[in-house]
Amino acid sequence: MKIGLLGHGVVGGGVTAVIDAGASESVRNLEVTNILVKDQSEVTDGRMSTNADDVLNADIDVVAECMGGLEPAHSFVKRALEAGHSAVTSNKKMLANYFEELMETAEKNHAVLLYEATAGGGIPWMANLRQIRRIDRILSFRGIFNGTTNYILYHMDLEDRDFDEMLKEAQDLGYAERDPSDDIDGFDVRYKVQISCASAFDQIVSPDDIPAFGIRFISAKDIAWAKSRGRTAKLIGRAAMNEKGLQAYVMPVFLNNSDYLSRIPSNLNGIESVSVTLGPAGFIGQGAGSLPTAHAVVQDLISISEGIEEHRHFEKSAVANGEVNGVYYIRTACPEAFTDITDEVICEGTLITRKTGLNAVLEKIAQCGDEKLFIAEVAE
Ligand code: HSE
Repeated sequence: MKIGLLGHGVVGGGVTAVIDAGASESVRNLEVTNILVKDQSEVTDGRMSTNADDVLNADIDVVAECMGGLEPAHSFVKRALEAGHSAVTSNKKMLANYFEELMETAEKNHAVLLYEATAGGGIPWMANLRQIRRIDRILSFRGIFNGTTNYILYHMDLEDRDFDEMLKEAQDLGYAERDPSDDIDGFDVRYKVQISCASAFDQIVSPDDIPAFGIRFISAKDIAWAKSRGRTAKLIGRAAMNEKGLQAYVMPVFLNNSDYLSRIPSNLNGIESVSVTLGPAGFIGQGAGSLPTAHAVVQDLISISEGIEEHRHFEKSAVANGEVNGVYYIRTACPEAFTDITDEVICEGTLITRKTGLNAVLEKIAQCGDEKLFIAEVAE
């Protein structure tokens, strides 16, 4: 199967390396024939070009998009699908924003669009959801979907290291997004939760509908408080689907140390689905980095070469977090905005709420307008 590869950075470079190495029969059935690179200085072999037409108009069977960003990645994938080529993408931001349109385009053109690498990196998360759903209804999922923030939190907790220093290290290791805001403000996890809602529940929501908080303003004091209560800070994305509708949000959580997700180390991801007969099933592995992410892209390419069929009916949905309640740790310059839900004052400006509806807390956060507010859910 001839592959036109769009993008040759951390992920695209890994895809070429894995396919060129041809470690198995399935991989040897694949061939990267054309590669789009960003600029002339990256052209190092005859397959490479800076002109997208040289890839999209070439004699290829499938397109693999590993460019990142919204445009031109979205237009290129759409163009490939319209030409009847199946496609694979590792680009969660693009897919989350254009999920419905691209799936419709694929369906209309009898093509398939696969996206294993977009959530959970190298972990076979989409493949396992597909497998579980052959028997079961998925009730909920939760997990650590971002390697960069897990790397930061893990080392801050273990070695009392500084946030900025750890972010720089994660960037140097190739885990972080081009815009680190996507990682540390929770947007990257929001895209992954949105895509997982489609895979787990067939529900398409707008990414902006999913409340998302990150770890930009976490401090050593917050981590010390969590530790003193036998807890570990992790950035968690979660969603559930029941008779009340779809619930989804992204937030740092002070997990109990007895929760296995609290012990997911370094940049690993750890995701858990809960379904009717299987119950909880956890998947742990490399959520970022060149070869693990390339592994997921190549898995999708093999699935296409083996003739995978995906006919799914997606429903548009709104996020309804009315049923979500929790105890929240809040550090803010305006603690008075939370007086009526405060259960315990830790120190000036830092409080624990009593069990409160998430929507009510979100309203108070919006009203108080403190851009540096830090919130974490305190797990039961
Ligand atoms: N920046 C992302 C992460 C890359 O750190 O998890 C993988 O999606």
